[in-house]
Amino acid sequence: MTVVIVLSSPDYTRESEALAARLGCPLTDTPSPEVDFYLEYSQDRLQLRPSGKNAPGPVFVDFVGGKVAHRLRQGEGRRSPLARAVGMKPGFTPRVLDATAGLGRDAFVLATLGCEVRMVEQSPIVHALLEDGLRRARETGELADIIGRLSLVQGNALPLLAALPPDEYPNSVYLDPMYPHKGKAALAKKEMQSLQRLLGQDTQGAELLQLARRRARRRVAVKRPARAGFLGGQRPDFQVKGVKTRYDIYLPQA
Ligand SMILES: C[S@@+](CC[C@H](N)C(=O)[O-])C[C@H]1O[C@@H](n2cnc3c(N)ncnc32)[C@H](O)[C@@H]1O
Repeated sequence: MTVVIVLSSPDYTRESEALAARLGCPLTDTPSPEVDFYLEYSQDRLQLRPSGKNAPGPVFVDFVGGKVAHRLRQGEGRRSPLARAVGMKPGFTPRVLDATAGLGRDAFVLATLGCEVRMVEQSPIVHALLEDGLRRARETGELADIIGRLSLVQGNALPLLAALPPDEYPNSVYLDPMYPHKGKAALAKKEMQSLQRLLGQDTQGAELLQLARRRARRRVAVKRPARAGFLGGQRPDFQVKGVKTRYDIYLPQA
C-alpha cells in the first residue's frame, strides 16, 4: 500500500515535512494516480485521502463536531452498552487500556464518562491522525478535561501489555480489532473500509485477548458486530448487547 504526503498548501510546509520524516513517507506537491492514499493537512486537520476517481471521502479524527459528538448528543451515557461493557457502575469508573485505539471514538466516549483511557495504536498513520484529532480537541478548550483523561501510545499492544508493570495494570482492557465489513457500505463503514484497505486484517486479536486477560484486573471487553463469531473462537464469560454491536466480556485469567 503506497501512502504519500501531499503538500496541499504552503501554509503546512513545516508540519508536512515533519510528518514525512517521522513516518518515512515521501512528500510531494503533485498527487499521482499510482498512489493508494494521500496524507495531507487541509483546513487545519490531518486527513487520509484514498486516491482514485470514485474514491470515498477523507478519513480524519473529529471529536468536536463529528460522529462522536453525535453519539454523545444521543445520550451515550454511563448505562450505555459500551460503558457497561468496560464495567462502569454507580460509584465505580474503571481505568481502561484501549489496545486497538483506531480513530479513538470509543476511547473518547469513555473519557467523556470519566474513564482514564490509555490508547495504544500500532499503525503510525492512524496514530498520526488520532494525535492530530486530540490536538484540535485540546485547542477548543472546553474539551480539555476530557482530553486530559486520554493518553496515546504508538506501538503494538502485545509487547506493551507484556511489559506492563503490575502497578499499571488497568481495570479493563478494551479490544476492537478490525472486522471485515461486507455488503452495502454506510458512511461509517466506508471509513472503516478505507482503514481496512490501508491496514489489512488484524491478525493478533486472539493473542491480544489471551494476554489482556492476564493484565486486566477486572475484565476484557471485546467489541464485535452483533452476528460475528467469538474472537479467536474463545467463548466469553458473558455478553453486553447493543443494537448492531455486542461486547463479549472475559474475566481475568492468572
Ligand atoms: C477497528 S479499529 C478500532 C476502532 C476504535 N475502537 C474506534 O472507536 O475508533 C482497530 C484498530 O486497532 C489497531 N490494532 C490492531 N491490532 C493492534 C495491536 N496489536 N496493537 C495496537 N493496535 C492494534 C489497528 O491498527 C486499527 O487501527
